[in-house]
Amino acid sequence: MILSALSPLLRVPLLQSLTRDSLLRMDPEVAHAATINALRLGLAPQQDTPDPPELKTTLAGLELSNPVGMAAGFDKNGEVPRALALMGFGMVEVGTVTPLPQSGNPKPRLFRVAAVEGVINRMGFNNDGHDEVFRRLQGTRVPAALGVNIGANKASPDFIADYAKGVARFARVADYLTVNISSPNTPGLRDLQQAEALERLLYAVLTVRSKSPVRVPVFLKIAPDLDEKALDAIARAISETDLDGLIVSNTTIGRDTVAGMEHANESGGLSGKPLFDLSTRRLAQMRQRTTLPIIGVGGIHSPQAALAKFEAGANAIQLYSALVFGGLDLLDRIKRGLAAAVRAEGKRNISELVGRKTDEWAAGRT
Ligand SMILES: Cc1cc2nc3c(=O)[nH]c(=O)nc-3n(C[C@H](O)[C@H](O)[C@H](O)COP(=O)(O)O)c2cc1C
Repeated sequence: MILSALSPLLRVPLLQSLTRDSLLRMDPEVAHAATINALRLGLAPQQDTPDPPELKTTLAGLELSNPVGMAAGFDKNGEVPRALALMGFGMVEVGTVTPLPQSGNPKPRLFRVAAVEGVINRMGFNNDGHDEVFRRLQGTRVPAALGVNIGANKASPDFIADYAKGVARFARVADYLTVNISSPNTPGLRDLQQAEALERLLYAVLTVRSKSPVRVPVFLKIAPDLDEKALDAIARAISETDLDGLIVSNTTIGRDTVAGMEHANESGGLSGKPLFDLSTRRLAQMRQRTTLPIIGVGGIHSPQAALAKFEAGANAIQLYSALVFGGLDLLDRIKRGLAAAVRAEGKRNISELVGRKTDEWAAGRT
């Protein structure tokens, strides 16, 4: 493709900041669509050196060349997982995908809280539905771990049945699945985090998985807006199952960190920098309660923030919002920074730094 010949130009810092600045001047959803289109056209810079050996990670049986992933919600329809993998993500999570296509909430539904590099979204699971996304993924070779994040249709009479359908549908094309019960934008969805409903959900989902010819790892993605009692209940519910891991966390409905700022009063989930402390604390609190693999997500915007997630107890990380503000080289900087931190500590692999500050983070002392 002729356009892909231009992608090396995007490595030039000036062009990168021009691209980023013009995207930041656009309406956020238009900018997002433009970015997806650019990736579809092969216009993203591709990683040209192998990942540092310090970052090689095994996660729930998956072999990752690095533990930094693209979080769900960026590529909701599985249009560009290969381009994202070629950029250098060690895992790419597409979705959330629901059984039937749905258009989501009315626009505008995506806002930047620019002063603090935050994002508020109330997209409402706009996506092409199982059939279309399955078809797309079936024909795509992705050189990274491919995750499919599954959800329920807003109008579904049976949310749990929707998740079971998601497992049945995507077990063959995904390297892992994420059961997303933490989006604030589908009324009632987060109630599935309560013990009894969660037990029923996990039973349904893991029973379907056990019947699938391949044992695809299943992760559960939770909200940061849970108190310690709620975390206890989740830890108890998952302990009796063969769930493979957790993703902590989704966006927050809290607004303490952005009070008074432009767009702060828009309803929806807040992500980006203002979510970092809360989501990292919840991650550490969950690490105190389980030995399962945890993917840490929320507000990662620098190599230091990425390292903090591992120290709080994450085995791998994902990001989304910071890419809006930080530009295309953030992924590279994070990977180089993590590898340097491993070496500076005299260690050989990032896994050796996992959890060394869990208790400080859990207590909010960092
Ligand atoms: C615009 C937008 C859409 C999102 N859509 C989804 C989604 O469909 N499913 C999901 O599990 N998480 C979704 N998320 C949440 C992210 O995956 C992530 O958990 C959250 O944004 C925190 O990470 P960040 O601060 O690095 O963005 C979305 C986030 C944003 C900003």
